[in-house]
Amino acid sequence: MISRIKGTNDIIEDSKVWEWLEEKLKNVALNFGFVEARTPIFEATELFNRSVGNETDIVQKEMYTFEDKGGRSITLRPEGTAPVMRAFIENNLSSKGLPQKLFYCGPMFRYERPQAGRLRQFHQFGVELIGSSLPIADAMTILLAIEMLKAIGLDEFKLKINSTGDEKCRPNYVEALKAYYKPFLNDLCDDCKVRYDRNVLRLLDCKKDAKYAENAPKITDYLCDDCKSHFDKLKKYLDDMEIEYEVDPAIVRGLDYYTRTVFEFKYPNLGAQDAIGGGGRYDNLIEELGGSKVPSIGFAFGIERLILALEAEKRLPKIEGLDIYVISIDENQKIEALKIAGALSKYFKVDVDVMGRNVKGQFSHASKENARYTVVIGEEEIKTGLYTLKNMKTGEQWKVRLSEIIKIVSGSGETDTTDA
Ligand code: HAM
Repeated sequence: MISRIKGTNDIIEDSKVWEWLEEKLKNVALNFGFVEARTPIFEATELFNRSVGNETDIVQKEMYTFEDKGGRSITLRPEGTAPVMRAFIENNLSSKGLPQKLFYCGPMFRYERPQAGRLRQFHQFGVELIGSSLPIADAMTILLAIEMLKAIGLDEFKLKINSTGDEKCRPNYVEALKAYYKPFLNDLCDDCKVRYDRNVLRLLDCKKDAKYAENAPKITDYLCDDCKSHFDKLKKYLDDMEIEYEVDPAIVRGLDYYTRTVFEFKYPNLGAQDAIGGGGRYDNLIEELGGSKVPSIGFAFGIERLILALEAEKRLPKIEGLDIYVISIDENQKIEALKIAGALSKYFKVDVDVMGRNVKGQFSHASKENARYTVVIGEEEIKTGLYTLKNMKTGEQWKVRLSEIIKIVSGSGETDTTDA
């Protein structure tokens, strides 16, 4: 037997919950005027090297990179922002006016050590608000994320925000951080020894060396006036909207493109993988990828983690079963049953027997599938055009025409026919 690849999942039993969840998130994004962007799941490797950053764990260790038959280096996307920005530039979307508001939903790939909530193929729902440098855009993005969490029934999240400064003030902070970590360099984990030279900010969110991060200098003390003012305005907007947050200087994020605002949503009781979503501002990314300077901000939720949070809260929705199971009394009515199922499927979730079950078997299958109603088709029914409709919960039955079945099952049904 061939098994699935480690760190991947088959979504079959849960697929209805996934559809429900994606639909909810999508509706909030659509209602805020966002448009879906569907980009390829593989891109030129160079795209991620230049955006996510050569020195990040994602690029160094986690990318699924391969050479295609034409000798090009290709990478399965580890995240969605860089591809969407590549598409923004390539499709000249700035000529359509700013802001451009895009969302995406789909699989991402990172070669990480699999554990609960951490997969090698996982799924993100992401949103990018492209074109504004103003803190009100940050506030809108965070509000949108919160509306999405509320729409799916998660309200125990914690919002953590930070500013990572910009090209003016971050170098001073990097120097301060290096000076702070220097005396401990030999005691740091092997990864952090390398990160010290390449990307010292990453030391702040290393779980192994967390004890050193506690007393490390805080970026918020090193922000230049512009970055500080931006961050202060964002905090005021969040206060004005009564959005609770915590400023956490350890939020530095695992991707290099961020400038100024960064944020994460944490959910309690999810163990080590408690970040259900994260994002931030990336004012230089589009320019670095060859476009013009278009400041932007966005975030992405991890769908698997949202589902784990919903499970932990016992808030997974009850997905309703069938509306109608069409039952045939014997072999002669199979095609009529199929035709009626076809007609009803324009309005309802329907099913019909394909296993050759007898009437009793069909009824018990209808119950197993949680059918709200059954319609029974026999010789008599075909002759008269009056079918036996049964409410499976109450046991009520009617002899009705097709048009009345539609009315009753839609809930608008008054019937003038006699009870069977
Ligand atoms: P990220 O923080 O790397 O940000 O990923 C966003 C979310 O994806 C995480 O908070 C987590 O819920 C989920 N996630 C990440 N890795 C895994 C994994 N291996 N298994 C399961 N879930 C995972 C980004 O990707 C940015 N592109 C977000 C963004 C959009 N920033 C600006 N715009």
